[in-house]
Amino acid sequence: MILVCGGVKGGTGKTTTAVNLGIERARRGAKVLLVDADPDQESLTDYIANREERKAEPSVSVIQVKGTTTSKSLVALSKDYDDVLVDCGGFDSVELRQAVLICQAWIVPLNPTQMQVWTMPKLKEVLDGANAMRGDAQLTAHLLGMRLSTNSLNRARSDLDTVAQEFEGFGVLTTVVHQRAAFERAEALGLAVTELEKASESDRKARDAVSMLHDELFGSLRVTRRKGGADGR
Ligand SMILES: Nc1ncnc2c1ncn2[C@@H]1O[C@H](COP(=O)(O)OP(=O)(O)OP(=O)(O)O)[C@@H](O)[C@H]1O
Ligand SMILES: [Mg+2]
Repeated sequence: MILVCGGVKGGTGKTTTAVNLGIERARRGAKVLLVDADPDQESLTDYIANREERKAEPSVSVIQVKGTTTSKSLVALSKDYDDVLVDCGGFDSVELRQAVLICQAWIVPLNPTQMQVWTMPKLKEVLDGANAMRGDAQLTAHLLGMRLSTNSLNRARSDLDTVAQEFEGFGVLTTVVHQRAAFERAEALGLAVTELEKASESDRKARDAVSMLHDELFGSLRVTRRKGGADGR
């Protein structure tokens, strides 16, 4: 499956979502490719370079794909992998528009603060633009509650539902990811939060959220490799 993490606002957690999901997917046995499709930064590339330097297992491949041939490149690359996870920049980019033309899932990490909700019309324009070209394979964009406050009175989840009801073509994932120190700690080590040792109670909640997100998007079974894949399996 080609899965895109994209939005039109910076710092919402797109790279964090892509890298944690990608590593977790690889840990479950899938052949995963992470795609850095952010034309302005190389955060995903740097994250995985750090992981490689530290020799963390499993090793996960990362490649940079940019520009007007992004769709074509992603489709070609996807033939050699079970799953391709694409990390786009935090703005309306050629890469995002190209990726959502051909992906099977589009995840929009969003904390429904007013400033983030204001990006919804632009996101809808991107989605509608893609769907105008996708024929029968219409795409739903999945809002992911990301970096939500751990304050139990926080109404963010129901606010997300309200946003999705207002914008046709958008749904809300059941999983929510709270703001937790585990993500920054894992980032410094080139790990997913699911790989952290000596996990605190809060770390375990972060781990459970990523695990649940994985299962919600990919199903909870371990991957059975397709026959005849590119690695000769
Ligand atoms: N759930 C979380 N809890 C705590 N910190 C988080 C969480 N998600 C992301 N962060 C931190 O927030 C910062 C921004 O996250 P990230 O780089 O993933 O956002 P982004 O949407 O990819 O940003 P950009 O638009 O610049 O590409 C990072 O330092 C990351 O560690
Ligand atoms: Mg990013």
